Amino acid sequence: MNAAASGHIPVMLDRVRELLAPALDAAGAVLVDATLGRAGHTIALLRDHPGLHVIAIDADQAAIEESRRLLGADISRVTLVNAVYDQLPTILAGLGRPSVQAVLFDLGVSSPQLDEPARGFSYAQDAPLDMRMNRDGDLTAAEVVNSYQAVQLARILSEYGEERFARRIAEAIVRERERAPVTSTLRLAEIVRQAIPAAARRTGGNPAKRTFQALRIEVNDELGTLRRAVPAALDAVAVGGRIVVLAYHSLEDRIVKREFAKRVTDSTPVGLPVPLACARPQFRLLTSGAQRPAQAELAANPRAASARLRATERSLDPCPSPADQPTRWPAAGQARQAAAAGLASPAGQEPGSADKPGTSARPRPIRPSGANRGRSRPARPSDAGGGRPRRTGWLVLPARRRAGQPGSPNFLCLAAARSARGRSGLPARRQHHASR
Ligand SMILES: C[S@@+](CC[C@H](N)C(=O)[O-])C[C@H]1O[C@@H](n2cnc3c(N)ncnc32)[C@H](O)[C@@H]1O
Repeated sequence: MNAAASGHIPVMLDRVRELLAPALDAAGAVLVDATLGRAGHTIALLRDHPGLHVIAIDADQAAIEESRRLLGADISRVTLVNAVYDQLPTILAGLGRPSVQAVLFDLGVSSPQLDEPARGFSYAQDAPLDMRMNRDGDLTAAEVVNSYQAVQLARILSEYGEERFARRIAEAIVRERERAPVTSTLRLAEIVRQAIPAAARRTGGNPAKRTFQALRIEVNDELGTLRRAVPAALDAVAVGGRIVVLAYHSLEDRIVKREFAKRVTDSTPVGLPVPLACARPQFRLLTSGAQRPAQAELAANPRAASARLRATERSLDPCPSPADQPTRWPAAGQARQAAAAGLASPAGQEPGSADKPGTSARPRPIRPSGANRGRSRPARPSDAGGGRPRRTGWLVLPARRRAGQPGSPNFLCLAAARSARGRSGLPARRQHHASR
């Protein structure tokens, strides 16, 4: 049976295949499908890449069981995991896979979940107010609706549903539940309809849509889970590995966009005289902005309408924690002097290049910021020679020996100072001495 026959048409499938192909072509490639659903994307990718193995995660045991059936003989190439996807690091560690070649997230609910009344996701069919992806979870939509205070309900509806009548709806729910607990989807949908102004009922589809979205997000902690899962997925991909995320509302998409943006941006603090090796971007974007489904796809599958796709590729290995890897220069005194003068480092070395003989990095421009703003220029070798150190807005802390490693080389840490005056209130140069 194909995915469509199972009641689920994989969204933006051709684009997902195209974007993941370069990462999955290598023999032994591993994909994490973090939202297996009815295995629509997974089945297509297994066919495209005969050497591929998939670690397939879903919080919903029903999705796992149904996919096991849909996968048929391909099940031997799939590891099924019934878990919430923010458990990714634990899952990979348990499988002895520190890194993978790709991760796919196709967020939200699947068509079968929406279409099965008993799950309580749909405002179109009467069912108990449940909305749990993981049926072992202990918070249901009924519990939220019947136990949260009006202010909490209003906040959820406003933040997660972007509902402009959040307060009116929350107050109506509280009034109604005093008569009798609100336990069914259709009763809740009717309360919402009655709570909003008559004019608003006539526009924008079913007025309960945003309330149901908000409750689903709350019940499943969808945003918190995604905030933890996206960085974990980015950390898990190997160089050349790719991540594709399909989001279905702006709250999810914003989390993905921000996390990707962080990883493709140099994070050297503004004002630091040298770019930090560990702060270089480790990813590049594969999509500019969020991509949307084509009209032809929407005609065949209207449920794809709100999809927004973003993708990124790892271009550099992860850096060991900068705290564990202080910048090392052999000539600490010289380095301090050079940094105080706003130079890259003695002999034009980049931090960390000292143990590579013959490395000759060119001097780096000082970034315009704070005290330097408007005065930025490439550093000149003559600046190192003496004269008054220029104010850089940065403080060079003293070289220190690594605890427990007698005889290890000195390490220099460059630390930010808010201005030429450090936190102690002493001028930077005096603070430097005071901290010895
Ligand atoms: C849109 S469907 C995925 C459909 C799938 N790509 C396909 O083509 O069949 C989303 C799936 O993700 C699962 N899911 C949602 N949130 C999850 C989470 N936090 N952890 C694990 N699975 C989750 C849902 O149970 C659902 O089965």
